[in-house]
Amino acid sequence: KPQLLIDTDPGVDDALAILMAYAHADIAGLSIAAGNVGLAHTVRNARTLVDLAGAATPVFAGCAAPLVRAADEDAAFVHGQDGFGDIGFAEPAAALADEPAALALLRLTRERPGELTLVALGPLTNLALALRLDPGLPERVARLVVMGGAVTGHGNTGKVPAEFNIGFDPEAAHVVFEAFPAFDLVDWEATLRHAFDDAEFDGWLAAGDRRADFFGKIMGAARRYNAKHDRRGVIAADALAMAVALDPSIVTRRETRAVAVELDGRLTRGATVVDWSARLGRPAQANIVLEVDQARFAAMVRRALGVPG
Ligand code: BDR
Ligand code: CA
Repeated sequence: KPQLLIDTDPGVDDALAILMAYAHADIAGLSIAAGNVGLAHTVRNARTLVDLAGAATPVFAGCAAPLVRAADEDAAFVHGQDGFGDIGFAEPAAALADEPAALALLRLTRERPGELTLVALGPLTNLALALRLDPGLPERVARLVVMGGAVTGHGNTGKVPAEFNIGFDPEAAHVVFEAFPAFDLVDWEATLRHAFDDAEFDGWLAAGDRRADFFGKIMGAARRYNAKHDRRGVIAADALAMAVALDPSIVTRRETRAVAVELDGRLTRGATVVDWSARLGRPAQANIVLEVDQARFAAMVRRALGVPG
């Protein structure tokens, strides 16, 4: 079974990714970032997921703001004001650990060197802070999988070529991209190519168990937003990254390239600049996931929602 450490800002698609992780792996900890919505909400949402899973996973609160500059935008307009579709869930019972996320990332990877796959599903603030405290972190993780970026400039933020997780904290992404000699990058554009058909997804929601009921509720706001903006299908960026983390053999097409983050730029701050033609003379550190086996991805999601068979 894969052993995961998940850094996340839940978030609707983060929730699906975490349900997938519970169904297919062991989770050593959830370290929480601000991103989709503020930290108080993302921490609470993570605890709600721990309750739903009936697990005892430690939840570590991380950075409430980006490393350097305040973010221009959050994603409450997609995920709901509380990040979970504004359903009004009761206060979760799961505890919040008394250790900052960056320190927990360092401690857990020291306790289990080489064992944990780090899965980053939100802005990279906690990881960057951990790296500044201890640059030895990359040597202690089995793999890093990042959901982030828009590799040909088709972003999803107000800075057109920037994807949300990178655009929220570009300096943090820069620190992480410079520090890790190799990582898997699952970008927004790959996500759009791997959306699920709406009717098919509704069938899974109807056939699944309480996890499907829960997910059907929290995704309502995002679905309404997508319908209004003519986005078809169920887009689940973090779920795709989680599929790659859980089973790297699901990847059917990839390109390994140097990727840097634009830190300035009037219109381009937060863009991921991919050195497609190897002009920068930098080591190619990012395994860019271009395509996965959609049927296997779907099977992982169905199992996470408790769909029989
Ligand atoms: C990413 O941004 C967030 O809104 C999602 O949870 C995902 O991690 C997609 O750009
Ligand atoms: Ca996320």
